[in-house]
Amino acid sequence: MQQILTLIEQKKQEYAQLALFSFMQNKSINPIQRLAWAPCAAHFIMNFGELNKYFLREEPTNDPIQALINKHTYEDDHHWLWFLEDLKNLELDKLLKFSDALKFLWSEETKNARCLNYQLYRYTSQATPIQKIIVIEVTEATGNIMFSTAAEIGKEIKAITQKPCRYFADFHLNVETGHMTSQSGIEQFLQDIQLSEATRQEAYELVENLFTIFTQFTNELLVYAETHKIEQQLKTA
Ligand SMILES: [Fe+2]
Repeated sequence: MQQILTLIEQKKQEYAQLALFSFMQNKSINPIQRLAWAPCAAHFIMNFGELNKYFLREEPTNDPIQALINKHTYEDDHHWLWFLEDLKNLELDKLLKFSDALKFLWSEETKNARCLNYQLYRYTSQATPIQKIIVIEVTEATGNIMFSTAAEIGKEIKAITQKPCRYFADFHLNVETGHMTSQSGIEQFLQDIQLSEATRQEAYELVENLFTIFTQFTNELLVYAETHKIEQQLKTA
């Protein structure tokens, strides 16, 4: 498993180079504009809780790896609540007719967010605990890049408005450790798992595919943020 975790770490460094993250770090742009992709990510963020509850979690279990996965799912299944809070906070909570909201969520411009969900469901449905761990490690790796960047914007916004974010914040980053669990010994336990040659090849492929769909999703967010100008200016408290 060690080689797989090393590959995930390498792909994480490549993922960090995506243009969305330089856009998010560009302080010459209004900080809310740098988070203006949030509605585009909604389908994925809202479904991520369900992925944890209904696909990754499997109870009861006698499998020690599945038991670790289960524990992890309880940490990750409710972050969408913080996302909804921040949408309000940042005034990205536009009033829409229900039919328009549905149209938006299933539109062309948010397609990669949905595809990401569908692929994650595909890779976790009836999957082995090893396959699930790979999905978790990749989502943690990409999430860590995303939230460490977003939390900085959250801080800039808080300094102006005095309103703290929870999703785009250190508060969130602190529980997204970048790994399945920050418990000591677990990392070593994962590294030491022995994989057959065939399983290792499948695992490599899974990591590559997962990073591809996360990259397409992330690029979609940038297009959205660049083409949807937000109107509001930050109000000082
Ligand atoms: Fe999260």
